[in-house]
Amino acid sequence: MQISVRQTAENENFDVAVLRYKCRKIMKVNDIVDFVAGDYGNAETVGVVGGVTVFVPFLCVGERAKVKINHVKGNVAYGDVVTVVERSPKREEPRCPYYGVCGGCSLMHMKYAEQLSFKQRKVQRNLTKIGKLDGVAVGRCVPSPHVFAYRNKLSLPVSGTVGNVKIGMYKRGTHEVVDMNNCLLGGLWSKKLVELFRDYLNQNEIAPYDEKTFGGEVRHIVARYIDGQLLAVVVSNGEFAHDLTEFYDTLSKNFDKVGLFVNINSGKNNVILGKITRHIAGLRYIESTHLGTTFRLRPDSFFQVNNEVKNAIYTQVRQMIDVADTEVLVDCFSGVGVLTNVLCSDAYDTYAVEIVPSAVKDADEMAALNHSPRLTNILGDANEVLPRLTAQNAGKRMTLVVDPPRKGLGEGICNSICKANFNNVAYISCDSATLARDLSMLTSRFEVLSATPYDMFPNTDQVETVVLLARRA
Ligand SMILES: C[S@@+](CC[C@H](N)C(=O)[O-])C[C@H]1O[C@@H](n2cnc3c(N)ncnc32)[C@H](O)[C@@H]1O
Repeated sequence: MQISVRQTAENENFDVAVLRYKCRKIMKVNDIVDFVAGDYGNAETVGVVGGVTVFVPFLCVGERAKVKINHVKGNVAYGDVVTVVERSPKREEPRCPYYGVCGGCSLMHMKYAEQLSFKQRKVQRNLTKIGKLDGVAVGRCVPSPHVFAYRNKLSLPVSGTVGNVKIGMYKRGTHEVVDMNNCLLGGLWSKKLVELFRDYLNQNEIAPYDEKTFGGEVRHIVARYIDGQLLAVVVSNGEFAHDLTEFYDTLSKNFDKVGLFVNINSGKNNVILGKITRHIAGLRYIESTHLGTTFRLRPDSFFQVNNEVKNAIYTQVRQMIDVADTEVLVDCFSGVGVLTNVLCSDAYDTYAVEIVPSAVKDADEMAALNHSPRLTNILGDANEVLPRLTAQNAGKRMTLVVDPPRKGLGEGICNSICKANFNNVAYISCDSATLARDLSMLTSRFEVLSATPYDMFPNTDQVETVVLLARRA
């Protein structure tokens, strides 16, 4: 124990370290403490109680609350609100009856302006603390036109017992399903789909999946609804033994355009979709046109969940490419090519780089659909393809767009980007922590022109960020 006091004292005043150590011994699980929310953290508020840093969700900054401690680790503790003693004017009554229990939303108790402020502060804090980018001022978070019913995709776990199936979201911090009539983020289409699917499973006595025994039949219902077209995927624990045409007929009576699929997933893990997806009936893909680009989405294609915010982001990136006087555009992590086809032009060559073969096949189809002759889709690892592309295009004004998964770019790709001759880079990120880590490497060669958070996921603590960079002179 003495060792930990000495270790802490290396970084801070010895008396403070001793006080923190004593307090840590005093604070215990189940204690009720007086808490003042001093600041926001990544998904909750942070305050200091008797020298211990305490994290508490579902408060607004400045609020006082009685908090029950549920976990203590070192000088850090976690708690839940028992009562709010002093309410912030930035608080509002959450609309969803499952709020606080369901693990999906964490900011619905805040007025929307406060949610946007939370997200701007989150990105700023990560850029400063993780990326050490003290000079970068993060812009205001761009609001979503719709704060509810904005999601075009939902993946809902199925649980319960035969004849009494539960479909919903996982309870906060657990894998226990909260049976929900409706998720307000999905809107009416998802409410209808869940009602019909629950009835179908109960009436046919189909067993829901049991995560503890790995038994049961149905694990998830995954669905996407765009421009009046629904694709629904029943995720089955092994081959599905029941006739799904009855369910398809029911869906067809309730939705104008629908496609039904079954996905086989018998993995003993938390991955939602297995490798095999079979078409049952109806639409094979969603086809639509956004920002002048026609796309076809299959059930497992990546597509941003909030159509309007997606369009705002893609428009900002498009403007950057025009202003940069681009001669060659490289879109890395291009997926099935939705963003690539929005960005490509007859005025410059475009190369899209993607590592998944089926996505590149779909991307070729999309390029043909949109008559994009100067677009080349390349199957490969960005790490290896980038140096080759930049060598081939030496002397031209090159612009790079990256839209990586949550884990970000990592050291290898950041090094490739720094060595390559890109004049401008647009980085679209869904995780500001990995973004900050990557920017700390990229800023050795590039300066940050702007960092703009976008509210792709209202009512949750998630935020999308677009950072525009220019090569240093
Ligand atoms: C967030 S999605 C991008 C979606 C795309 N921009 C669109 O509009 O459809 C990230 C993509 O990066 C791809 N990916 C992951 N690692 C990669 C790598 N090392 N090289 C190339 N692509 C990669 C994934 O397969 C996935 O399709």
